[in-house]
Amino acid sequence: MRSIVILISGRGSNMEAIVRAAQTEQWPAKIAAVISNRVDAGGLSFAAARGIPTAVVSNKDYADRTQFDAALRREIDRFSPDLVVLAGFMRILTAPFVQHYAGRMLNIHPSLLPSFTGLATHLQALTMGVKVHGATVHFVTADLDHGPIVLQEVVPVTDDDTVRSLEEKVLALEHQMYPRAVRWFVEGRLVIEEGRVYQRAVTALDVDFSG
Ligand code: GAR
Repeated sequence: MRSIVILISGRGSNMEAIVRAAQTEQWPAKIAAVISNRVDAGGLSFAAARGIPTAVVSNKDYADRTQFDAALRREIDRFSPDLVVLAGFMRILTAPFVQHYAGRMLNIHPSLLPSFTGLATHLQALTMGVKVHGATVHFVTADLDHGPIVLQEVVPVTDDDTVRSLEEKVLALEHQMYPRAVRWFVEGRLVIEEGRVYQRAVTALDVDFSG
């Protein structure tokens, strides 16, 4: 049974989608904890209501990124995760933190990377006049919003799209694709070679259904 820790900063709708998929599809994995850097993150109550341990490590309590990341790492590692999932976790992470979880930390970003890193990705897409937009699931590296790409999906950008409508379209896509990518990891399908992610065929014997 794989153990997953999910990090959120706000609403947590992607975390919700993953929790629901893990339960309904009976993944050989458990969501060991949901951790937020903000005490007011809406997603914490959803997790708590599902009986998932929650914790807050507030960045406001630490003098700098190094100290915050060290505290966050201590909290995460209490749950010995096989995988750390960033689900709307809006913090820039230090290189030692990222290195500690190398190959076992995923992020979702609301754009087709490497286009439109950072914030306001939907506004960036509209401003550039792109005709397709989308979302990317990738392994996290020290390079912000970069790292080996697991999955990308697209939505068309239409003439009447606004930041809001585009955000809604992309978020609906994220809720489909992030659980799928996390499941691939849990099933041991993902292989990273020279910065590219490949999927290997998996037999039932590869999937650990033990407790
Ligand atoms: C999602 O759109 C996610 O892709 C984005 O924040 C939103 C969180 O929503 N993440 C980033 O921009 C990371 N760079 P949620 O809290 O409802 O899952």
